[in-house]
Amino acid sequence: DQSGLAYSVGTTLDRFIKLKQSDFPFASGELSQLLRDIALAAKIVNRETTRAGLSNIGGAFGQVNVQGEEQQKLDVIANIRFMRALSKGGEVCAIVSEEEDSVIDLQNSSGKYVVAIDPLDGSSNIDVNISIGTIFSIYRRKTTVGSPILKEDIMQAGREQVAAGYVLYGSSTMLVYTTGCGVNGFTYENSLGEFFLSHPDIKAPETGQIYSVNEGSQLEWEQGILDYVNQCKREKFSARYTGSLVADFHRNLLKGGIYLYPATEKNPSGKLRLLYEANALAYIAEQAGAKATDGHQRILDIIPTSLHQRTPLFTGSAKMVLEVEKFLKASK
Ligand code: AHG
Ligand code: MN
Ligand code: MN
Ligand code: MN
Repeated sequence: DQSGLAYSVGTTLDRFIKLKQSDFPFASGELSQLLRDIALAAKIVNRETTRAGLSNIGGAFGQVNVQGEEQQKLDVIANIRFMRALSKGGEVCAIVSEEEDSVIDLQNSSGKYVVAIDPLDGSSNIDVNISIGTIFSIYRRKTTVGSPILKEDIMQAGREQVAAGYVLYGSSTMLVYTTGCGVNGFTYENSLGEFFLSHPDIKAPETGQIYSVNEGSQLEWEQGILDYVNQCKREKFSARYTGSLVADFHRNLLKGGIYLYPATEKNPSGKLRLLYEANALAYIAEQAGAKATDGHQRILDIIPTSLHQRTPLFTGSAKMVLEVEKFLKASK
């Protein structure tokens, strides 16, 4: 029963942002506007995603990105759409993107916010019609508005985020975000072009029966991870792994479960990127009562040293994340 709350399920994102305005630090409306800009870009990418097979935007773009990955056309399109929405919106001074080698300085003398973004998460699933996503983190710049963008504006620990969220282009398209006052989920109604509040105040179950890991790299895991995953099998947990972090994370957030991407030979620091994948999901996890660790420390406490740095990521139900840390300690 939502009585007493000024908003209810079915509230539009716009109205929700307005109603929750008072929750925002520095409630001067810029962060609200920035969230609207992101939602607009998400609507545009959603439209392109749902018709990828029809409009020849499937398949490889023909370039390798700074990650050493074969960029998909939709990686590039999503990147352009979000960069354009963020630069036109007027609130952002700098962008870090998975698909850009270096920081994009928007030369915006009034922009207060820095956005780190994975424009299209789960690219390997685009051509086979499996859910994909977008992940974003929002920071306030540390240096004076209007002055040149400096390293300390960009290399902020995840705990400095003022907002974070993801879009899941799935059986329905959802926008899930936090501004530090809990996590709320919105479902997109195509016919109206609006996101509606569908999952108010998401709280993750404190434990679960689902584990998400690419078992193909099992022979490369450190002993503690192997021990933990074998424990999951002894307890007859379900293995669910889609190859799209956002989809696995979202399912585990709602149902209870844990996502693991350990260090491997190919990715000795883990595959997932700190600035635009792990930090955003870690902030959302903690705001929903879940956890996110690199195996030894909170993801949100890691001080970044390079733009595209990777980290092992273990995130989901609090008790399950603590269990992973216990197995890692025991195997030292
Ligand atoms: P991206 O498509 O943005 O590069 O991210 C892909 C990530 C993540 O979404 C997914 O969980 C993971 O890569 C899958 O990696 P493996 O194929 O190595 O399991
Ligand atoms: Mn990629
Ligand atoms: Mn990704
Ligand atoms: Mn990506």
